[in-house]
Amino acid sequence: MNTISPNISQDRPVIRQLDEAAVNRIAAGEVVERPASAVKELVENALDAGARHIDVAFADGGKTMIRVADDGCGMSPDDLPLALARHATSKIDGTDLLNIHSFGFRGEALPSLGAVGRLTITSRQQGGDGAEIAVTGGKLGAVKPAALNAGTIVTLRDLFHATPARLKFMRSDRAEAQAITDTVKRLAMAEPFTGFTLRDTSGGGEGRVTFRADAETGDLFDALHGRLTRIIGREFTDNALPIDASREGLHMTGFAALPTYSRGSAVTQYLFVNGRPVRDKMLYGALRAAYHDFLSRDRHPAAALFIECEPVLVDVNVHPAKSEVRFRDPGLARGLIVSGLRHALAEAGHRASSTVAGATLGAMRPEQPAPRVYQMD
Ligand SMILES: Nc1ncnc2c1ncn2[C@@H]1O[C@H](COP(=O)(O)OP(=O)(O)OP(=O)(O)O)[C@@H](O)[C@H]1O
Ligand SMILES: [Mg+2]
Repeated sequence: MNTISPNISQDRPVIRQLDEAAVNRIAAGEVVERPASAVKELVENALDAGARHIDVAFADGGKTMIRVADDGCGMSPDDLPLALARHATSKIDGTDLLNIHSFGFRGEALPSLGAVGRLTITSRQQGGDGAEIAVTGGKLGAVKPAALNAGTIVTLRDLFHATPARLKFMRSDRAEAQAITDTVKRLAMAEPFTGFTLRDTSGGGEGRVTFRADAETGDLFDALHGRLTRIIGREFTDNALPIDASREGLHMTGFAALPTYSRGSAVTQYLFVNGRPVRDKMLYGALRAAYHDFLSRDRHPAAALFIECEPVLVDVNVHPAKSEVRFRDPGLARGLIVSGLRHALAEAGHRASSTVAGATLGAMRPEQPAPRVYQMD
């Protein structure tokens, strides 16, 4: 039987070392899927740099321009070419991949963005000289002096101009802008002490502010309450229970809405692990399971939950966009969410039914047979 694939020539195939530009483009394909992924990488870098305020601007759904400006620690002129080298990072030393305390750790994001768009980085450290570097199609330009306040401004133009296949996968400007907004809001929930501005500059000039959240003050719970009110809305925080539960080294805080504030879809579910927004099926499943006795099947809980643990208990290096994580003990994480939420919901139901007892709150006690709460959005 002939086992040679019809697609492979009978001549001996040649193994080639791909050039750096091709390598970078391939790697970039995993890191940067759409404009919102570029925004995520740049905002995470700004947060890792300790920014107090982050300004994000974009044009045409981020396809023609994305700019992220921060007031963080900045980079020296000598740092700039290094920041654009692959696998160059200031965040880990490579000895312990299980002990990660920052958003970034791979040294992949900036070189990837430089491979798929026209990237300019302008940066200045406090008391140092400002400098700028540009990279197009993976080719670094010279470092030039530049004037700016301490911090960093990264501009990415014409995303995917070098990879037309990717461009075809872009959705409408409106859909891409929506994805950018969602990304910025999720990161803003995780960092209530940092101020955020999001501007759409498609019409030119300074642009139109489409989202703004000033830095919150007070203790973490107050700050989080303020930030969630700003982002999800007062109706959510007015109807949400503060959550604070622990189990064997795992800690869960945040806010979870009463079943009466359920939604018709799972859009108001925000989960974070060690400050990182995640879209993790296991965690979503646990959230649903926690409300199982309180909601009918077509209703979805609303919650913003933050799980914290020692970095060694969770592997964040399992997904190219870092949006999934792997707990060393997934059963423990699930158990914490399910029991922590059930406990808080039952307590609230009990409290309500033993006081003035709004019929709705009373109706959510799990002991009652088939309590079902329906609500219009
Ligand atoms: N906004 C910024 N302010 C200060 N330094 C920055 C900023 N953005 C990037 N850097 C520096 O450039 C380096 C490379 O950034 P890059 O995003 O490519 O990698 P990373 O954040 O270390 O890892 P990852 O690929 O996981 O994001 C960072 O480690 C950091 O030292
Ligand atoms: Mg990074």
